[in-house]
Amino acid sequence: MVVGGTLIWCAVVGLLLHASQRRNAPWSERTAGRLIVWGGVAFPLVVLLALLAYAVWLMPSIRPWLARHAPAPETIEVTGEQFWWRIRYPARDGLPAFETANELRLLVGERVAFSLKAADVIHSFWIPVLGGKMDMIPGRTNTLSLSPTKTGIFRAPCTEFCGTSHTLMAFSVIVMEPADYIAWRRAQAAGDVPGGGEGEQLFARHGCAGCHGVRGVTGPATLGPDLTFFGQRQTVGAGTLANTKENVARFIRDPAAWKPGAKMPAFDMLPSKDIAAISDYLVGLK
Ligand code: CUA
Repeated sequence: MVVGGTLIWCAVVGLLLHASQRRNAPWSERTAGRLIVWGGVAFPLVVLLALLAYAVWLMPSIRPWLARHAPAPETIEVTGEQFWWRIRYPARDGLPAFETANELRLLVGERVAFSLKAADVIHSFWIPVLGGKMDMIPGRTNTLSLSPTKTGIFRAPCTEFCGTSHTLMAFSVIVMEPADYIAWRRAQAAGDVPGGGEGEQLFARHGCAGCHGVRGVTGPATLGPDLTFFGQRQTVGAGTLANTKENVARFIRDPAAWKPGAKMPAFDMLPSKDIAAISDYLVGLK
């Protein structure tokens, strides 16, 4: 475009200088008319149409509204909630559907579709390294599809102001090799194995399981983020703190101190040793 633009600019300036030097029109009216039709209408039309076609041809890699109709073998449902992400994987290859939260695992080299929803207010789904961004709007479903081309761990922030903890609403994206991805899905479908430990019992006794499900151990709970294999996650509180025992304990004690507006109530009335046992249990869910 720079080369083309420079050539056209030189031609235009050349003609302008040529015209300004001459007192009398050098061309007949007919020649001038032809010059206007071919040089002023036909030539720009052809050049601009060619550039437009080229730009549209380039678009699928950068514009999701064109790309989203490409077929994807899997559609993952992601729902924005204040201030976390509910993620539902569909059944696939004989493995059942399951729910997880705040961490998305994708298969490298495979196009994936997302069905995007919101539970309360408008959020926005954006994985910067994969391009494409789509609002999540209550009462409707938006679709978007993306192609992860390299493995790695990436961060995806909420990109629509949704309340006090908008900047603390993020999820991790882990793009995996096929063998790892299949093993992960198989494990997710099976769920955690009950160990009967102290933390597991306290998790149930103190009511954690009323809002958070741990597949294979507790019944399904849908109010808060699913915590199956919580220990595998990068962060606690949807991108708020690194996933360590200490941070999980801090979060349980007073979620709003780390995440203003979080719906989970504070559990600072629990004995420290109970909070420590529950944190140990959660971080150990691998
Ligand atoms: Cu959710 Cu901003």
